[in-house]
Amino acid sequence: MKIHYYGHSCFGLEIGSSFLLFDPFISQNPLSDPTLLDTLNPQYILISHGHFDHIADASPIAKRTQAPILSNFEITLWLEKQGLSQVLPMNLGGNRSFDFGKIHYVQAAHSSSLPDGSYGGTAGGFIVEGPEGILYYAGDTALMSDMKLFGECFQIDIALLPIGGTFTMGVDEAIRAARLLNCKQVMGVHFDTFEAIKIDHEEAKKKFQDEEIPFHLLKMKESLIL
Ligand code: NI
Ligand code: MN
Repeated sequence: MKIHYYGHSCFGLEIGSSFLLFDPFISQNPLSDPTLLDTLNPQYILISHGHFDHIADASPIAKRTQAPILSNFEITLWLEKQGLSQVLPMNLGGNRSFDFGKIHYVQAAHSSSLPDGSYGGTAGGFIVEGPEGILYYAGDTALMSDMKLFGECFQIDIALLPIGGTFTMGVDEAIRAARLLNCKQVMGVHFDTFEAIKIDHEEAKKKFQDEEIPFHLLKMKESLIL
């Protein structure tokens, strides 16, 4: 597996011969690279919940690449009304199988409305399970005891956890989450994009180091091979 970071909670995952794009937020992210809008070529697009900082560029990329969008039922219905036909609806607790493995849609403790105010269903996260390993992307969430259950059900190789605080968990909660998940390593997401979620990188790294949890903070377009 290979992870490519595109800022905020947007990242790509190479698994098998497939490329999965999560929570595309490029055109409205001042820290992102706008050329990514035209250069990313995912086979699938995964949306954790309806907030603009996770769904903003899903439609244009899906229209250009014809990549199906996986998300909850309400979000895929909303996208269909916007003229997207290639959607793969899911809901919490369900999974879908692909040639690279399985995608599970799991609960997150967060809200989910769409940019026009439409109901966005329940916020979620994804567990991607394949022969190369298991990745858990928490989406936007608070710390929650369900993470212990995820850790019992899956041998998680890497957890992508929000660490910016204010709208989600912060660094301290992400450390507790990593313990509940019993994951091998953590990559931080959902930080620095807005004033309210700016973090001290060195402090975050030190806190994870003190707990002996391998921790990654990737820069824009940096990659991580697992
Ligand atoms: Ni959100
Ligand atoms: Mn968010």
